[in-house]
Amino acid sequence: MTFPSFILYALLLLQFSLGSNALEIINEKILKDDHNNVVKSDEDQDGYFTLDPSLNVFFKITDLYLGNKISVFFASNDDSTSTRLRSKQDVDSIPFSLSKLPYLLKYFSFSNTSSQAKAMETTLKQCEIKAIGGEVKTCVTSIESMLEMIHHFFGMVKPKVLATKVLSSKHTLFQNYTFVEKPIEINFSKVIACHTMAYPYLVYYCHGHKEGHKNRVFKIALGGDNKERVEAIAVCHMDTSSWDRHHVSYRLLGVQPGSPVCHVLPLYNVLWFA
Ligand SMILES: *[C@@H]1O[C@H](CO)[C@@H](O)[C@H](O)[C@H]1NC(C)=O
Ligand SMILES: *[C@@H]1O[C@H](CO)[C@@H](O)[C@H](O)[C@H]1NC(C)=O
Ligand SMILES: *[C@@H]1O[C@H](CO)[C@@H](O)[C@H](O)[C@H]1NC(C)=O
Repeated sequence: MTFPSFILYALLLLQFSLGSNALEIINEKILKDDHNNVVKSDEDQDGYFTLDPSLNVFFKITDLYLGNKISVFFASNDDSTSTRLRSKQDVDSIPFSLSKLPYLLKYFSFSNTSSQAKAMETTLKQCEIKAIGGEVKTCVTSIESMLEMIHHFFGMVKPKVLATKVLSSKHTLFQNYTFVEKPIEINFSKVIACHTMAYPYLVYYCHGHKEGHKNRVFKIALGGDNKERVEAIAVCHMDTSSWDRHHVSYRLLGVQPGSPVCHVLPLYNVLWFA
């Protein structure tokens, strides 16, 4: 079993959960990069791309137009069975808590020094961060818990859903894509994004705000250089002034800290909105 790019998850989580553990993770990563000559200077933006293609998820809002080409890394789980949530009955017998990690590593037969062990630890930590105020921050491990979460957040309103998905049979992780349709802005008053997490079975980290968000969401249709078709969700954070001023996206895009930053959501990530 392979887990999708660890750093990509850390990056995306950072954007949604500032002040959490994810922030520490990305800071470590950036520090490490800063000691590495390849990515030392601000001008050397390509260094990041060379270093880790999975960083190719960011773009500018001005890049969003029909016919434009951007290079994108669409992370994917190799194991196609893990694109479906399990039932509550299936997962209820498996503990889901950081304190049970040693047991879980034995259960899934991972050594405690493996990359999988590290990824599981990160996921469980992220899942145990409590939400504040009107926020939702929760991990969903089954179909039933997804429905419960949606009901709790949206009440009687039935939300719509969007997902990033590959429409072709084969998938290339990293390539150039052309916007083959005009990006469609999605209008909403409430939104929850659910990100797939690195874990032995499908776990979503879902987070949303009831109000006061400054994000714009677009549905984009992309055509790969290999003819692959991807339907994706793009999120543009219009006000990033609360982000770490060393956030890697600023360097990648060559923009000032606080500027709008857009990114695609990885495959199978979903967005509920109403
Ligand atoms: C990892 O496992 C080994 C043997 O199973 C044990 O001796 C060691 O203390 C464990 N390390 C951690 C960090 O849990
Ligand atoms: C994308 O296109 C650019 C310009 O044509 C090229 O330099 C680059 O290698 C391409 N990237 C990928 C991942 O194919
Ligand atoms: C969102 O609103 C804009 C402006 O009113 C409109 O052009 C667009 O079609 C709407 N999007 C959807 C998906 O309805």
